[in-house]
Amino acid sequence: MLPEDLDHILKEAQNGFARVSSRPEWEVFKATVMGPKGRLTVASKGLADVPKVEKPAIGKKLNEIKKAVEACSDEALKRVESLAALATLGSAIDPTLPSPVIITGSRHPISQVFDRVVDIFARAGFTVRLPTELETEWYCFDALNSPANHPSRDMQDTYYMPFGLSVGSAPAHDEKDRYLLGTQTSTAQIRTMLKEKPPVRILAPGRCFRRDDADAGHSSNFHQIEGLYVDRDVSLRDFKSCLDYFIRELFGPQAKTRLRPSYFSFVEPGFELDVMTPNLGRLSNRWFELMGCGMVHPAVLENVGIDPDGFSGYAFGMGVERIAMILQGVDDIRYYYQNDTRLLKQLA
Ligand code: PHE
Repeated sequence: MLPEDLDHILKEAQNGFARVSSRPEWEVFKATVMGPKGRLTVASKGLADVPKVEKPAIGKKLNEIKKAVEACSDEALKRVESLAALATLGSAIDPTLPSPVIITGSRHPISQVFDRVVDIFARAGFTVRLPTELETEWYCFDALNSPANHPSRDMQDTYYMPFGLSVGSAPAHDEKDRYLLGTQTSTAQIRTMLKEKPPVRILAPGRCFRRDDADAGHSSNFHQIEGLYVDRDVSLRDFKSCLDYFIRELFGPQAKTRLRPSYFSFVEPGFELDVMTPNLGRLSNRWFELMGCGMVHPAVLENVGIDPDGFSGYAFGMGVERIAMILQGVDDIRYYYQNDTRLLKQLA
């Protein structure tokens, strides 16, 4: 018996134990190594024939190998036993079993408004494009016709990101283009029109960020839904009738609308859409402002390579919390972020 033979036995034992996958397999293999006729047992008996001078060294080696083989065997046994235990559990999920608990909870009030608005516009042919939250200055301002240093940029106090950032899913316009947290979902207009040719009829529900002191009406993180329709010969009349359809679906057939002139760099003419409707609690029968909107500015179309002489369109953007507060009679925006079940249950 040579030390190399013992090393070989250990190696084979390691390989063999690693392959067993059940207790019977483990027993059979173990017998081939450690049983009465097993290789290791036979080798141990061979110690008697080893010349006296070599005995201490070979005996020591034999002991080491025995220990290592036993450890390997014990580990394999543990492994197959835990496999067997797992097998008795059956498959991880049985979809036919009834749920052990009654699932409670409901869509968050803000999500409910998203769902409703998306559903109403989906029926008018609008499909959803998700805006990205990390945006850049070019997409958020320049492409939307808001020149650098223009005061309209101050209205949207912005969280800027450190220089050197790059986001694969929302590439910057050029090396100098700085990342920021999107202050408005209007950025989705640009990213969509750069990728898709008219007719473009999209709705972009997303999250916006503005540096704002939180109060009853403001949150530095809020949600908007943007709409955009660009095609040949889209008129102001198309625009107004689409919004009227939306408002009547949302507030009921008695709701009235009016367009009030307003300024947004990316629409011309630009408006605020006001709504008046009976049966709306404290807001009944008085005009309230609902969203910014207007006809897409020709400069915006040019920025995305669409010919403003051949195409026109309209865009609108609404604050989701604002609509939620109006519809749900909530008077403080902060309630939406506290997840107080007393409020959530009332609005479920
Ligand atoms: N993006 C504007 C805002 O955040 C809203 C808007 C969208 C206005 C589309 C006009 C057209 O205030």
